[in-house]
Amino acid sequence: MDKPLGIVIQGSLTAGLEIRLHPDISVEDMRVGKFLVVRGVRADFFCILTDVCLGTSSPRIMANPPSPDDDFLQMVLAGSGTYGTIELAPMLMLNREANRNEVRSQKSEVRSLNGKNGHDEEKNSSKLASFEAQTSADIQLLPVKTIPSHFSQVYDAQERDFRSVFGWEDDPHRCNFSIGEPLDMSVPVCLDLHRFVERSNGVFGKSGTGKSFLTRLLLAGIIRKQAAVNLVFDMHSEYGWEAVKEGKQFSTVKGLRQIFSGQVEMYTLDPESTRRRGVRDAQELYLGLDQVEVEDIKLVAHELNLSEASIDNANILDGEFGKNWITQLVSMTNEDIQMFCDEKRGHKGSIMALQRKLMRLENLKYMRSTCPKNYIDQVLQSLKAGKHVIIEFGSQSDMLSYMLVTNMITRRIHRSYVKQAETYLQSKNVSDRPQQLVITIEEAHRFLDPSIVHSTIFGTIAREMRKYFVTLLIVDQRPSGIDNEVMSQIGTRITALLNDEKDIDAIFTGVSGAGNLRSVLSKLDSKQQALILGHAVPMPVVVKTRPYDQKFYEEMGDRDWSEMPDAQLFALAEAAKNDLGF
Ligand SMILES: Nc1ncnc2c1ncn2[C@@H]1O[C@H](COP(=O)(O)OP(=O)(O)O)[C@@H](O)[C@H]1O
Ligand SMILES: [Mg+2]
Repeated sequence: MDKPLGIVIQGSLTAGLEIRLHPDISVEDMRVGKFLVVRGVRADFFCILTDVCLGTSSPRIMANPPSPDDDFLQMVLAGSGTYGTIELAPMLMLNREANRNEVRSQKSEVRSLNGKNGHDEEKNSSKLASFEAQTSADIQLLPVKTIPSHFSQVYDAQERDFRSVFGWEDDPHRCNFSIGEPLDMSVPVCLDLHRFVERSNGVFGKSGTGKSFLTRLLLAGIIRKQAAVNLVFDMHSEYGWEAVKEGKQFSTVKGLRQIFSGQVEMYTLDPESTRRRGVRDAQELYLGLDQVEVEDIKLVAHELNLSEASIDNANILDGEFGKNWITQLVSMTNEDIQMFCDEKRGHKGSIMALQRKLMRLENLKYMRSTCPKNYIDQVLQSLKAGKHVIIEFGSQSDMLSYMLVTNMITRRIHRSYVKQAETYLQSKNVSDRPQQLVITIEEAHRFLDPSIVHSTIFGTIAREMRKYFVTLLIVDQRPSGIDNEVMSQIGTRITALLNDEKDIDAIFTGVSGAGNLRSVLSKLDSKQQALILGHAVPMPVVVKTRPYDQKFYEEMGDRDWSEMPDAQLFALAEAAKNDLGF
């Protein structure tokens, strides 16, 4: 066991623990987000450091501090007269004493308890973490229900402690994926991807903090571990093919299609732009005006500047003309509109406004009046075949196009998933089971704003959770703009630096017991650090994000044997033969 860092001097379950550091430990080594273990009498408490303070035992020292070059007096005071304290938020308890059998029976007890009220709990709020070890080790993890007694010692977390809770990435019995490392250790922090894809998740953080990189990591993990199929609405064209990396020099990183070439398909709304960027085999995607339903228009009412009355009139037109309502409307003359209104009780002014505004749709590059081929079906077929689909917007990435297309495609795919899921529920036949689908959307607050969330497909998906095998991965820099109810359904929250109080509050919506993590969130580095909490991790944890670089591509991709130097290839072949016993 290594050296203790300090002892518990006071604390409470709600406010956390106060630790007095031992004299030889410098406060300067303690930083917010650090991972520490308090060894209590019966349990180990895994904690996150939330604050650092300086203390003095007597006001006289403050009134009369030693002079800066009086090293001797400073040393005399250190540890007795002056000391450092840190505050810890206990996040998880690990019972040390229970023997194996006991653990097993307690485990099943916990499980049956979870089973009984699991449902209610899920409905009302999200959990801070899963509190389940991501290994097959016989250990029992518990949410913190008590605190360690006075003068318990505090230690740096050991790699062993960490592994037993977070598991191994290459564990064949699990779907663990390493998302990074704790701040001051080099051991992987794994997400349980099976649990991850079961619920909708969020990646949050200010602009430039690494959301796109994190998202790319997560998508790569899902592809590599085959946890689900992905449908990505790639607003800024950065997931499929080469994306720019900020830095002193201009450099790019690989997109998912380059790492997993056979498994990822790209579609584009702007074929020229995609081709210019060097993607040769992206498939074109067109939508027909006859595919646009009133519901689709409703979501972009704000972008098109449509009034309630216009939407009502759109419904009347739709009732009259069916799926050709937009083409019909656009070709109507003023007299036609007048006649229509006389007959069908539409409102002339609203219909004319609607006509003017829907003309914008006609001019969109990817919009045809009718499409000979149903491209959305094609996307669906790709997904059914287990291919991951990335849809690029190129120059068509304004909010109107992004929302319209994302909504149109998602609504139809969701509809098909509901059908499939219902077939499966009836037949219970494994071959009917739809493949879990994860839909990635950016600028999510636009789709999940409280004023529209009840009428959009995304609100529905977030709320119905795993029922139809479709979940969301939402990427957003302004979580406070997202409806509270949706936020509280988010399973796992991966959050990079946020400064805005409202945004920080939003992250903790619906999770109880996370209050003292607020300070951690606002003190993260501005890049490549994130706080992870929720369903897919055994306990909340701060990570340095896994670098997305050459090494990562190699770890994710299948090895390209043809490009490997001969010597290395022969050595590996030899090792493989030995494994097989030749
Ligand atoms: N995991 C990572 N690996 C390598 N570089 C990263 C990583 N995360 C962030 N970065 C750096 O931070 C920059 C900003 O990240 P990005 O994901 O584009 O931010 P955001 O999407 O939040 O605006 C990147 O260009 C890159 O240089
Ligand atoms: Mg980004």
